[in-house]
Amino acid sequence: MAAADFGAVTILFVLIACHLAASAGVNSGFSANLIHRDSPNSPFSSKSFNKAFGRRRSMRPVFYPNSAQVRRDKGQYLMKLSIGNPPFDVYGIADTGSDLVWTQCVPCHGCYKQLNAKFDPDKSSTYSDLPCDAQECHAIGTGTCSPQHTCNYTYGYGGAELTQGVLAKETITITSTSGEATSLKDIVFGCGHNNTGTFNENEMGIVGLGGGALSLVSQLGPLVGGHKFSFCLMPFHTDPSIESKISFGEASLVSGEGVVSTPLVSKEDKTPYFVTVEGISVGDKLVPFSSSGNVSKGNMFMDTGTPPTLIPQDFYDRLVAEVKSQIPMTPVENYSSSGFQLCYKSKTNLKGPILTVHFQGGAGVRLLPKQTFIPPREEVFCFAMQNVTSDGGVYGNFAQSDFFISYDLESSVVFFKPTDCTKE
Ligand SMILES: *[C@@H]1O[C@H](CO)[C@@H](O)[C@H](O)[C@H]1NC(C)=O
Ligand SMILES: *[C@@H]1O[C@H](CO)[C@@H](O)[C@H](O)[C@H]1NC(C)=O
Ligand SMILES: *[C@@H]1O[C@H](CO)[C@@H](O)[C@H](O)[C@H]1NC(C)=O
Ligand SMILES: *[C@@H]1O[C@H](CO)[C@@H](O)[C@H](O)[C@H]1NC(C)=O
Ligand SMILES: *[C@@H]1O[C@H](CO)[C@@H](O)[C@H](O)[C@H]1NC(C)=O
Repeated sequence: MAAADFGAVTILFVLIACHLAASAGVNSGFSANLIHRDSPNSPFSSKSFNKAFGRRRSMRPVFYPNSAQVRRDKGQYLMKLSIGNPPFDVYGIADTGSDLVWTQCVPCHGCYKQLNAKFDPDKSSTYSDLPCDAQECHAIGTGTCSPQHTCNYTYGYGGAELTQGVLAKETITITSTSGEATSLKDIVFGCGHNNTGTFNENEMGIVGLGGGALSLVSQLGPLVGGHKFSFCLMPFHTDPSIESKISFGEASLVSGEGVVSTPLVSKEDKTPYFVTVEGISVGDKLVPFSSSGNVSKGNMFMDTGTPPTLIPQDFYDRLVAEVKSQIPMTPVENYSSSGFQLCYKSKTNLKGPILTVHFQGGAGVRLLPKQTFIPPREEVFCFAMQNVTSDGGVYGNFAQSDFFISYDLESSVVFFKPTDCTKE
């Protein structure tokens, strides 16, 4: 079992207070920091993957008998939001792969262990339950009217994670990177009274940044002058005390030399940020996504809530064979139980190969070993892409690190610019 393999590893977790910066008033948008959770020493599951490609968009409860294998939240990025009046700080996983903003609330009918106190709606003067006739009550599919006319929701992530509670409206304060606090009224969020899953005790919920109506991005859009946002995630190896930055609004779009872009693909009623990957080059050798040559539109989606990149089996096998053939070392064979299929013993990260992800529209995104090989323990570096049994994949956060990534949801484009995020 994965947990046993890594039992001795100390997980460093450093929560740094966000003293952030930048902000020129709400209308031009603002920036805030993301806190890096160090150490993805656990395999990732297919949480987000099921969410978008699986049958479980309906958010019904899903239980896996062996939830240890679907551990999440190593290598996550946390975003701080202050909720209510007086403001109560919440650190939630920054997740472009889901739509709801929620936190654990008292009273808890069932909550996972959390170090900080949980949000108590009775102590906030600005809290109000969302009435069940509000349009937003039905935006995530599972809002139902309780006898008390509150909008009770159930929201699942396809893996072991599930939150149930009441949709509410609150004032949310985001402290920008300049230290300036911006308060936004009547933001809809989930007050989770019954939450399960393999969350870390520092994670107080999830900040959904997806394309659905209730995501933070969608709710902030009209307030910051547009449905646009960007972020620059610190790579895994970075000192976890250095924070990553996320920005919202018109001014957040990345431009300049080295920027490439690819269209976002919309799919029926699905809200993740789908993109089309035609293939990945390993060095100069192109490995096409599909061996038949037919690439379906929107075959992957971008997800900051998933650490490794998840790739359909057929493509994965061809990709890994090529990666292996270009590394002049013998893999460590006994790491497969961790979810990683290809690992090497090495004191420092590998020297190569460079992978280039070919997105539709000609965008080539070059990934260096810092973005493709992750040390689950000292002196072992593993290929940070994992196989899944479905037709579509997930573009995870390791591969997104050290890129300025921005989303223009009005033009349905995502931009990538290689960037040293420590200097941003
Ligand atoms: C909490 O959620 C779990 C899983 O969905 C469910 O089995 C349980 O009945 C819920 N508990 C309460 C008090 O609602
Ligand atoms: C709605 O949620 C509230 C708060 O968790 C709970 O007390 C109530 O029983 C729920 N109602 C229904 C019908 O599930
Ligand atoms: C590729 O897609 C086209 C149109 O969707 C289809 O007609 C063709 O049979 C496909 N080819 C293969 C090899 O799957
Ligand atoms: C893998 O094998 C090596 C050499 O046989 C051994 O030193 C190491 O402890 C093993 N690792 C695991 C996770 O079993
Ligand atoms: C990934 O590949 C390994 C080895 O081929 C296999 O044992 C495992 O079941 C695959 N995992 C998934 C999720 O398909």
